[in-house]
Amino acid sequence: MLLQPYSLMAHAFLLFLLFPYIISTNIHACKPTERSSLMSFASTLSSPPLNWTSLDCCHWKGITCDQDGSITHLLLPSKGLKGGIPPSSLRNLTHLTHLNLSHNSLYGSLETQFFLSLNRLEILDLSYNRLSGELPLSLPSSSIQTVDLSSNHFFGAIPSSFFQQASNLTSFNVSNNTFTGYVPSSICLHSSPSLRLLDFSSNLFSGNLALGLGKCSKLQVFRAGHNNLSGLLPEDIYNATKLEEISLPVNSLHGAISDRIANLTNLAILDLYFNHFGGELPPNLGKLSKLKFVILDLNNLEGNLPPSLMNCTNLVELRLGSNNLEGDISILDFSRLSQLTKLDLRNNNFTGTVPVSLYSCKPLKAIALGRNHLKGQIEAEILSLKSLSFLSLGYNRFTNLTGAMKILMSCKSLHALKLTGAFKGGRMPFDDEMVDFDGFQNLQLFSLGHCGLIGQIPVWLSKLKNLEILLLGSNQITGPIPSWLGTLPRLFHIGLSNNQISGEFPKQLCRLPRLIYEPNIASQAEDQYEFELPVFTTINGVNHRFLPKKRSSFPAMIDVSNNNISGYIPAEIGQLQLLQELDLHSNNFSGVIPDQISNLKNLEVLNLFMNHLFGIIPLSLVNLNFLREFNVSYNNLEGPIPTGTQLQSFDASAFEGNLKLFGAPLLNECIPNKDMDADNKNNKDEGNGHHQLPWFYIFAMLGFIVGFWVVCGSLVINNTWRYAYFLFIDNLQDRLITICINTMKRRLRD
Ligand SMILES: *[C@@H]1O[C@H](CO)[C@@H](O)[C@H](O)[C@H]1NC(C)=O
Ligand SMILES: *[C@@H]1O[C@H](CO)[C@@H](O)[C@H](O)[C@H]1NC(C)=O
Ligand SMILES: *[C@@H]1O[C@H](CO)[C@@H](O)[C@H](O)[C@H]1NC(C)=O
Ligand SMILES: *[C@@H]1O[C@H](CO)[C@@H](O)[C@H](O)[C@H]1NC(C)=O
Ligand SMILES: *[C@@H]1O[C@H](CO)[C@@H](O)[C@H](O)[C@H]1NC(C)=O
Ligand SMILES: *[C@@H]1O[C@H](CO)[C@@H](O)[C@H](O)[C@H]1NC(C)=O
Ligand SMILES: *[C@@H]1O[C@H](CO)[C@@H](O)[C@H](O)[C@H]1NC(C)=O
Ligand SMILES: *[C@@H]1O[C@H](CO)[C@@H](O)[C@H](O)[C@H]1NC(C)=O
Ligand SMILES: *[C@@H]1O[C@H](CO)[C@@H](O)[C@H](O)[C@H]1NC(C)=O
Ligand SMILES: *[C@@H]1O[C@H](CO)[C@@H](O)[C@H](O)[C@H]1NC(C)=O
Ligand SMILES: *[C@@H]1O[C@H](CO)[C@@H](O)[C@H](O)[C@H]1NC(C)=O
Ligand SMILES: *[C@@H]1O[C@H](CO)[C@@H](O)[C@H](O)[C@H]1NC(C)=O
Repeated sequence: MLLQPYSLMAHAFLLFLLFPYIISTNIHACKPTERSSLMSFASTLSSPPLNWTSLDCCHWKGITCDQDGSITHLLLPSKGLKGGIPPSSLRNLTHLTHLNLSHNSLYGSLETQFFLSLNRLEILDLSYNRLSGELPLSLPSSSIQTVDLSSNHFFGAIPSSFFQQASNLTSFNVSNNTFTGYVPSSICLHSSPSLRLLDFSSNLFSGNLALGLGKCSKLQVFRAGHNNLSGLLPEDIYNATKLEEISLPVNSLHGAISDRIANLTNLAILDLYFNHFGGELPPNLGKLSKLKFVILDLNNLEGNLPPSLMNCTNLVELRLGSNNLEGDISILDFSRLSQLTKLDLRNNNFTGTVPVSLYSCKPLKAIALGRNHLKGQIEAEILSLKSLSFLSLGYNRFTNLTGAMKILMSCKSLHALKLTGAFKGGRMPFDDEMVDFDGFQNLQLFSLGHCGLIGQIPVWLSKLKNLEILLLGSNQITGPIPSWLGTLPRLFHIGLSNNQISGEFPKQLCRLPRLIYEPNIASQAEDQYEFELPVFTTINGVNHRFLPKKRSSFPAMIDVSNNNISGYIPAEIGQLQLLQELDLHSNNFSGVIPDQISNLKNLEVLNLFMNHLFGIIPLSLVNLNFLREFNVSYNNLEGPIPTGTQLQSFDASAFEGNLKLFGAPLLNECIPNKDMDADNKNNKDEGNGHHQLPWFYIFAMLGFIVGFWVVCGSLVINNTWRYAYFLFIDNLQDRLITICINTMKRRLRD
């Protein structure tokens, strides 16, 4: 009896101790149906384990419940989830407001039922998965705010009913899929007036942008670049005054940019690069004081730069390259653009000199003024731009190259210097003038082609230990290719074509480290370095290539075509295993095509035409699997073109002009030997006894070749021996083939 109160108290105490637990389990204990939904979802994933084992699913990783124990959040971004997205298993999570499964490897398509049951969803992020199929007819709920389906494989048109219920939608991102049809730009008109962010970029949308954006009174970001849009900018886009970003690059839009753009006072980014926009720049563009990025390159804009632009004191990038703009830029006052880091005015019709006021824009990293009609000299004030890394002045009418080089070599951070065609005539700045040379320490790209400069390749270049790309083509350079070129540790792209370079191809060039060794991880990381602006380049004097900013988009190349280089192609060339393009055409090379060229497993271009090469086309060339351009025409090559190989896929013109060369793709299947008929006659005259001889002859000769190799192979080190050997083999082969053909012809006749 006495014990009872104690017992009661003990019970009460126990209850007291357990109270928080009971309360909390009551609050959070997850619903069995939802638990089984999650279990079923997890079971369809192939990896890795989610460790969802404890009883209360509200405590599972990635799960949050509300006070009733209903699951509201399912957040599993970047968890390495693999598997199909199973609509049915998530359908029971009817209280879900946040679903984030981004950056996984989920596949499958979104089905309408899946969406319909999730009618409280606010945030849906399925970006960076492998989801595909067409979109369901409608977004799941009227409470939906954020939808991110970007970077998947969705396709088809966006259904017109898709946004019908989505009255609270603020952010919609479907970029980087393969959607087609129209961009639903009237979205604010009918359903979602609160939109702030719309991203349709990198799809296959086409057609015009319909009116409606003007009703998006809260729209801040509108992106639809990298599609197939055409037509004009919708007139009411200028009514969306909250806009901070308009990005529509790489489309086919045309028409003028209206001066009403001055109404978009919040605009910071205007990116319409690579379209067909024409007309003049809006005169009041400069009223947009928040403008940071004006990227309008590759359009058809014309007229002068509006002076008001120099009032945009927040400008960070001003890119107007490849338009039809004109006017004297020396009168522009850049001094107030104190944030400017990139100025690209390339490929226009600008006149005047480099504006001195530009040199007061201290953060400038890139200046591109190439392909205009600028004149004058490079002023020493340019040295006040301590961050200048990219300078492109090519194809203008500047004077005093030597003066410019002496100044620019002190630009410590210069990585790319493009002076191609910037100066006309005169001498290559030579060593006496550059006596104190210790500059250009970071220079990676140096181009001084198309200037018609006389002189030799100057020795000061040998001090550029970071040089990777050297372009000196189309000058009047004489003298030899210096052997020190092969010692530059980072050089991988050499263009010396269209000069008067003589001497032999230096063996030392075959030791270029960057063309011999596979890059290690560290230097691969360096290769990711990008130039500040895209690079235009001319290769072989004709092809204009527009290269992206990545440095690795330059091929590993040696181009010494159109010079007076003589002697053999050194066998050591076979060491340059990473070489992609070798162009030796139109020189005086003699000797044979070294067998070792077949070691250049990465070779894509091999041009040897218009030289004096003789001997056969080495059979081993068939190992060059990546070859897409090949030309050996107009040499003295002979023998059969190796058959059953990709060499047959090239045009006959790649082989023509070699009198003794035969076989497909050339039309002469056999050796075009004018002595052949005479030979035949002789053979006939000599009678039947000759019939047995050829095979004996062939075996004897083969035996001799093998013997020759065994005895002399080790001695065959230098070119003279190699040459003698090839001469011998070539004659032998020629002889064997003639005999073979004659025998066959005789057999056919008999
Ligand atoms: C599951 O547990 C294992 C072992 O403790 C752990 O390595 C893994 O990261 C966990 N998975 C998740 C999704 O947390
Ligand atoms: C969803 O709940 C129903 C009962 O409400 C149940 O029959 C069904 O199995 C559940 N689905 C899943 C995938 O758990
Ligand atoms: C989804 O999760 C990722 C990773 O935490 C996050 O960066 C992203 O903003 C989330 N998505 C949404 C719409 O909140
Ligand atoms: C839309 O958002 C507002 C404010 O966030 C909210 O009051 C309203 O309930 C939401 N409407 C729906 C249908 O969810
Ligand atoms: C849309 O998603 C992509 C990733 O797929 C992202 O790069 C982009 O910034 C997003 N757009 C906006 C406007 O946030
Ligand atoms: C585009 O999506 C693919 C996957 O579909 C992804 O690998 C890639 O990184 C995305 N690109 C961008 C720019 O986000
Ligand atoms: C781009 O759009 C035009 C019509 O505007 C169409 O003819 C063309 O086929 C489209 N191109 C692609 C690649 O979709
Ligand atoms: C843009 O706004 C102006 C003034 O508010 C209005 O008169 C005009 O009709 C609007 N334009 C469009 C296309 O909505
Ligand atoms: C836009 O600018 C024009 C003048 O350029 C002005 O007449 C018009 O009222 C402005 N509209 C709005 C909505 O501010
Ligand atoms: C630049 O702005 C000033 C004042 O902010 C103004 O007086 C001047 O007219 C503007 N210049 C141009 C060319 O718009
Ligand atoms: C420069 O102007 C001339 C005529 O004035 C024109 O023929 C030429 O196409 C223009 N060049 C560029 C790049 O706009
Ligand atoms: C060339 O430039 C240098 C350096 O600016 C200068 O000293 C020299 O006077 C200039 N020469 C001529 C002919 O203008």
